[in-house]
Amino acid sequence: MSETNTATVGVIVVAAGSGSRLGAELPKAFVSLGGQSILQRSLESVLGMSEPAQIVIVVPDEQLALAQDEVRHVAGAAIEYASVVAGGKTRQSSVAAGLAALWPDVGVVLVHDAARPFTPAALFDAVVAKVRASGQGVIPGLPIADTLKRMDNDVALETVDRSVLSAIQTPQGFPRVELTAAYAAATQDYTDDAAVFAAAGHTVRVIHGDALAFKITTPWDLRRAQALIPTSGFRSGIGIDIHAYDESVPLWLGGLHWPDEPGLAGHSDGDALSHAICDALLSAAGLGDLGSRFGTDDPRFVDAHGEVFLRATIELVAGAGFGIQNVAVQVIGNRPRLAARRGELEKHLSDVVGAPVSVAATTSDGLGFTGSGEGVAAIATALLSS
Ligand code: CTP
Ligand code: MG
Repeated sequence: MSETNTATVGVIVVAAGSGSRLGAELPKAFVSLGGQSILQRSLESVLGMSEPAQIVIVVPDEQLALAQDEVRHVAGAAIEYASVVAGGKTRQSSVAAGLAALWPDVGVVLVHDAARPFTPAALFDAVVAKVRASGQGVIPGLPIADTLKRMDNDVALETVDRSVLSAIQTPQGFPRVELTAAYAAATQDYTDDAAVFAAAGHTVRVIHGDALAFKITTPWDLRRAQALIPTSGFRSGIGIDIHAYDESVPLWLGGLHWPDEPGLAGHSDGDALSHAICDALLSAAGLGDLGSRFGTDDPRFVDAHGEVFLRATIELVAGAGFGIQNVAVQVIGNRPRLAARRGELEKHLSDVVGAPVSVAATTSDGLGFTGSGEGVAAIATALLSS
């Protein structure tokens, strides 16, 4: 990433937040969305602008190397225009870090939330054009469809006139010199750049935004984003688990207790059915397997019920940006007879997994370790959407 190029437009992509409301394992910008991170998708939009712009990507200190890698993958030859810098505790301090990295020739600066990965490139171009034409601050906004009420705790007071309000998005564009000065002069923390700019006495104009520029804030937003990806694909996975009978312990299978049945031996509760599902889910997500994810030395999982593994697995799969479409599992063994509780099993597992889980069972006609009554095997498949 060199600084030998020049550009008159600079785009600061802020991606240094933790994404606490999304609650994923990684900071929000690095959460996967159909094979690319949220940050990478945002950069694709910036790279689609009609003129080359300097791109400053602001990320958490700990993610500098990961971000550089990700940027390299999407930027191609345009990598010469991109640099990655560390952000601060607040969005405002992250933007300030980005401003400090702008090249001397940059006259118009756009600030964009990485968390708005579907923002069309045309919106960036429109903001640049309007900043150039007006010399003022320019922000995209959308009319508000819902009725708005002022509140006193949970009591609705009067209706607020929504026709004079706008829901503001990014990218927000400004003359660089004025924005830099406004940041230097800011004495409080604002939620967007337009507020910093306006506090310095400058005018900010609103242009028509784009519904696709919505911000991913909550897990619901992430699901909505996943549903929008046209190339969104499916991934299947397979998992097998086997445990030997142990008459001295109770039987737990599929997260249910089975009284008067021989239990299953194992480091945990030997719930082969749940474990097979976990492996199928991890396999579909490309996240390894039970053994590598939940080591036998992890105190959380000593004697743990299958459901504990299942819930931890589901968290990992969701954190990697996948939705679970369905799971199918078949148990092979002489005991227990599943038929009588099949509906109960399917209901319980579907509730835990959050997607349909179908359960089947078979014996092996007296053959092999399942036929001779040494233990049970379970085979599961899972389908994920990305
Ligand atoms: N941002 C940043 N530096 C911060 C805080 C936020 O660069 N210290 C960025 C985020 O990465 C995001 C954008 O500002 O792209 C909008 O912020 P928001 O949606 O609030 O993201 P987070 O702060 O990461 O999420 P949360 O508030 O849920 O923790
Ligand atoms: Mg935030």
